[in-house]
Amino acid sequence: VSAERGGYPHFMLKEIHEQPKAVRDTLRGRVADDLSRVTLDDIHMDEAYTKKVDRIHIVACGTSWHAGLVGKAVIEQYARIPVDVEIASEYRYRSPIFSENTLVIVISQSGETADTLAALREVKQQGLRVLAITNVVGSSAAREADDVIVTWAGPEIAVASTKAYTTQLAALYLLAIHFAHVRGHLADAEVRELIEALDGLPAIAEQVLDTAPQLENFAARYVEATDAFFIGRGLDYSLSLEGALKLKEISYIHAEAYAAGELKHGTLALITEGVPVIALATQPQLYEKTVSNIVEVKARGAFVLGMTWVGNEDLEKSVDEVIYLPKTLPALAPLVAVIPMQLLSYYAAVARGNDVDKPRNLAKSVTVE
Ligand code: G6P
Repeated sequence: VSAERGGYPHFMLKEIHEQPKAVRDTLRGRVADDLSRVTLDDIHMDEAYTKKVDRIHIVACGTSWHAGLVGKAVIEQYARIPVDVEIASEYRYRSPIFSENTLVIVISQSGETADTLAALREVKQQGLRVLAITNVVGSSAAREADDVIVTWAGPEIAVASTKAYTTQLAALYLLAIHFAHVRGHLADAEVRELIEALDGLPAIAEQVLDTAPQLENFAARYVEATDAFFIGRGLDYSLSLEGALKLKEISYIHAEAYAAGELKHGTLALITEGVPVIALATQPQLYEKTVSNIVEVKARGAFVLGMTWVGNEDLEKSVDEVIYLPKTLPALAPLVAVIPMQLLSYYAAVARGNDVDKPRNLAKSVTVE
């Protein structure tokens, strides 16, 4: 059994370590050799359609929904197409407003999640075009969508999703750059800069795995914690949601993600002496604002684990401990910064003696409602 886990004690740890390769495989063949453009040959949208899309709905569940939140941010930033991201079980039971040229993107690791498939079928019936981002080639989502981008993460066995998320982000980055380029929102030089940065992500993901001992140590000290808070702004907020979900799923520690600027509207009341707060500060343009929120939680006695880009030692002034992340473009930071959060949850679950790969009450794929 240990052989199929590649010598790792759990599938989750194996899958966390497979991320550099999974991301590389997902990018491979989808950018031109000279890195001048995205070549998403697997999708069949022609140039006219790519230019015509006037609205995007991203529909997904769980971790895939969190990937969608990052997708929204980057598609809006680069391609300037308005994007709504919605949980499939909400989307399917209301009457969303779309135009004739609304593209629906469903994201599903398994391609079999009941609510996501129901939403897909519903919008297809309304005549909308659907693009599926999935990890399973022959899955229902892959078969039923008009276009498919396969994430080449390989089989994901652990219930808590890791490499599926990072490869979903890779796919969404490719899509955002592709749309932006075709629609004339990015100059050739900007496209090249983005693709070069994307191309560098697998190596960076490899480096960030070295933060494992620091997170193992942190998890050991907080093994008795009952609550934890994840805060951040912008993309760091989207990432906080995934960090909190990961911790809940496998360590069973109650975790909450908060947009840092919203803390003072409620959650700050829960911050007491010694409560662990994971503060994400990977976005330079929001850095000062995030630090002011960190100062607020510190003043209430929180123990703050900060995450920021390497070289930004300024953060040490406001937090108890810092995880340094290798530098990349801010828009790509979630793919890197999620890895320490996965490791934190993993080690917290191990320290608490939980069944890491098969957490209580949860299933890998929710194929019934
Ligand atoms: C379950 C899994 C999650 C996953 C979610 C959506 O809850 O435990 O890890 O994110 O389903 O699954 P999907 O296969 O549609 O991405």
